[in-house]
Amino acid sequence: MSDVRRGAVAVTVLLGAALGAAAPGATAPAQPAVIAETATAVATPASTVPAGVEDPQRAWQNWTLNCQGCHRLDGSGSDSTAPGIARTVAKFLWVPGGREYLVRVPGVATSPLSDAELAEVMNWMLWRFDREHLPAAFAPFTAAEVGRLRTRPLRLEASQMRSDLLSKAEGLASP
Ligand code: HEC
Repeated sequence: MSDVRRGAVAVTVLLGAALGAAAPGATAPAQPAVIAETATAVATPASTVPAGVEDPQRAWQNWTLNCQGCHRLDGSGSDSTAPGIARTVAKFLWVPGGREYLVRVPGVATSPLSDAELAEVMNWMLWRFDREHLPAAFAPFTAAEVGRLRTRPLRLEASQMRSDLLSKAEGLASP
């Protein structure tokens, strides 16, 4: 059995155990959602691993520990923490300056992750939350690019830049 398959089976067993353990009639416990998310990442066959992501499991973990507190596990965000990125985040790549913006936002630029880990999370995030809007010519972020961009974190100008870029992108058809 390949490692990927073994991982998927292990997760399936875990998931079954977690679901089985829930009291009858209990509302959906938080834990299985997290495990199901892991299952998706673990069970991703090598051929569909997103470009620029060496280890989807590690990317998911880094997202969970460093990003989801504001962006939520499903990228939906909230009014008080962060804008939703699900089904919009890759659109920034359609317009000049958007690629740089994605790395220079404070939550990304000042994250404790290393340049390589951050590049991997960015590539994973774009694929996980908005793969339908990824430009066909998208070149994955590299550690070197992320390292360069994050030395100039945005501050208060981030939200104005965000709305300018997004309104330009919304005016375009998918490239
Ligand atoms: C403290 C809350 C917080 C954390 C933690 C955080 N972000 Fe954000 N993020 C925001 C906010 C708020 C914005 C909107 C831009 C701004 O005003 O900074 C944003 C914007 C973004 C954007 C630009 C897309 C858009 O719609 O504006 C990306 C990409 C992003 N974050 C990814 C991440 C990643 C990856 C991590 C983890 C390494 C992370 N963020 C951690 C709050 C956070």
